Amino acid sequence: MSQRQIFVTTALPYANAAFHIGHIMEYTQADIWVRYQRMRGNTVHFVCADDAHGAPIMLKAEAEGITPQQLVANIAAGRPQYLNGFHIGFDNWHSTDSPENVELSQDIYVRLREAGFIDRRVIEQFFDPVKSMFLPDRYIKGECPRCGTKDQYGDNCESCGAVYAPTELKNPYSALSGATPVIKQSEHFFFRLSDPRCVEFLRGWTQQGRLQPQIANKAREWLDSGDGLADWDISRDEPYFGIPIPDAPGKYFYVWLDAPVGYLASLKNHFAKQGGDVAAFLADPGTEQVHFIGKDIVYFHCLFWPAMLHFAGTPYKVPDNVFVHGFMTVNGEKMSKSRGTGISPLRYLDLGMNAEWLRYYIAAKLNANVEDVDFTAEDFLARVNSDLIGKYVNIASRCAGFITKRFEGALTQDFGDEGATLLKAIADAREAVGSALDGREYSKAIREIMALADRTNEYVNANAPWELAKQAGREADLHRVCSVALNAFARLTRMLAPVMPATAAKVAQLLNHDLSRWDDEALVARINPYEHLMTRVDPKQLDNLFDKPAAEATLPPAPAPSQQKNAQQQTHSDKASAEDAAKDFEPFISIDDFGKVDLRIAKIVSAEHVEGAAKLLKLQLDIGEDKPRQVFAGIKSAYDPATLVGRLTVMVANLAPRKMKFGMSEGMVLAASDEKGEVPGLFILSPDSGATPGMRVR
Ligand code: MSP
Ligand code: ZN
Repeated sequence: MSQRQIFVTTALPYANAAFHIGHIMEYTQADIWVRYQRMRGNTVHFVCADDAHGAPIMLKAEAEGITPQQLVANIAAGRPQYLNGFHIGFDNWHSTDSPENVELSQDIYVRLREAGFIDRRVIEQFFDPVKSMFLPDRYIKGECPRCGTKDQYGDNCESCGAVYAPTELKNPYSALSGATPVIKQSEHFFFRLSDPRCVEFLRGWTQQGRLQPQIANKAREWLDSGDGLADWDISRDEPYFGIPIPDAPGKYFYVWLDAPVGYLASLKNHFAKQGGDVAAFLADPGTEQVHFIGKDIVYFHCLFWPAMLHFAGTPYKVPDNVFVHGFMTVNGEKMSKSRGTGISPLRYLDLGMNAEWLRYYIAAKLNANVEDVDFTAEDFLARVNSDLIGKYVNIASRCAGFITKRFEGALTQDFGDEGATLLKAIADAREAVGSALDGREYSKAIREIMALADRTNEYVNANAPWELAKQAGREADLHRVCSVALNAFARLTRMLAPVMPATAAKVAQLLNHDLSRWDDEALVARINPYEHLMTRVDPKQLDNLFDKPAAEATLPPAPAPSQQKNAQQQTHSDKASAEDAAKDFEPFISIDDFGKVDLRIAKIVSAEHVEGAAKLLKLQLDIGEDKPRQVFAGIKSAYDPATLVGRLTVMVANLAPRKMKFGMSEGMVLAASDEKGEVPGLFILSPDSGATPGMRVR
């Protein structure tokens, strides 16, 4: 296949607010796609910018006593920490408030005017006599013309749901000054979307297979609707933060006219920095132009924008694709700061959560349809811990150590039939995974990759390198099994690299192996000593991830745990004694709090002394997973390891893994003890007979 040359954008975020998790979702979707294209050897220019103009930004800046330019600059300064933090690799970040955008927007407008697509019409609008400005609908309030509810916005009533024009409101007032608005005339400029040339072009452009079926259908509905497409009001009167309309003093482009032109402005700025001819790039028939957007801005991107570009003519080109995604919801609800359902991307990073957990989670849930993606803490925890840690990382963590310790890091290429079959199966799946990524069917790609990880783990389990390592004369088998597993791991990592670029970079280093090209079939030759690749999600981090509901923030602060304890001690003070202090119970928790502790029946498959550890035994615990968990338990004083093997007990399965001097501890065994935890007061738990490994205890 010859190489593609692609210009990719994501929607330009409004420059009056920081990113929320929905932005991160959109950028992650696009970034995965871009990284995949690059691994295929395609050339991609991936750009974005701040959407700077418009009344809300102008008014917010005024309220803060700064210029709109300063407001935009402040927001722009905060962008890199999000983008770097989530490994979103735009080639350029620009602004719609830039010389390139002024030039391009005015050029497109003049070309449209010359082609007869611009109309001028006098319209009547509410005007705030105190602020001396025309009022956008959202700044006009009044009583609902239908039900009379006060303080309703200019376009619809939140109480009865009526939809109306602002001029229909009873007792209207300006939300900016409180003044009663007056109706005033002004000449506006319209883009003639109703022009038959335009309608004909859009009927074609929207139905050529470049849009998702749902979006193409929606566009057809709009085009077929009774009154046809309405002309689009593209001008605003001063004062306005925007781009002046040529030959029209006091008139500015409505923000949505110059916003998509910002894609081209950022591309132009990018080419200026890196060198290259942007006009030639766009005029090249081989260039693809692709926009990633959310479902709320389809009208702008699938009607206005292609029509503007088409009728402006060369070098402008129409988009090849507009890829529309649904919204990210949290616990099934629209995100809302005030209801405490939002997730701040910065808080996520501040909590030390791995950005690639979220990238993986988003990928595992995204497909090419316009469907919402729901984030729930439980689902996130389960997905990441069971797939990424339990399946994927598990392969390397179980096999790399043997190669380092027993074979000086060198792998064999003698894979045996079973191993060769496994490696071939992974290589053969690459095309299917690749076309799923290219088609934005990320969840399908992830399913395929995880099925191959399962197969690899089955291979490792069946060949049990940890057993081979103990047996004399099995060196070659041990070498073979671990070499197969690590080559499988390399191939899986290559397919995951667009989703998890930082982990892939670590793995490339660990394996001394180039993972940057999709079709590469080279084998791993020599590895470096294994280093931890990724930790499990700690449920505690998830507790702190969500915004606090606004109501909660206004309540008096809850007593700190230590204060609660004091209160409890006071009520028991009549019988306070040294003995009672030991029975001092913890404060009440909710059933939900308890539910966060994942207790499991565990079978002790091995127990051994740990050299140099005074209190610890090293246990291998079967809780129904592919591989037993290693846990260091402080029970040496009470138990002879030999008597523990084969016993069932209870473990905490979702305690964050902890690196101890002697190795990783991946859980905790429960034991009853007296105050000091010494003999004879130490008793591990046993379930009644019938319980089996992995059963949940609740
Ligand atoms: N400034 C306009 C876009 C101009 S493009 C020429 C805008 N900005 S926005 O900040 O409100 O949204 C930016 C992008 O984020 C849009 O594609 C929007 O659909 C997307 N999302 C906003 N909320 C979202 C979710 N909850 N989930 C996923 N994407 C979301 O619109
Ligand atoms: Zn009403």
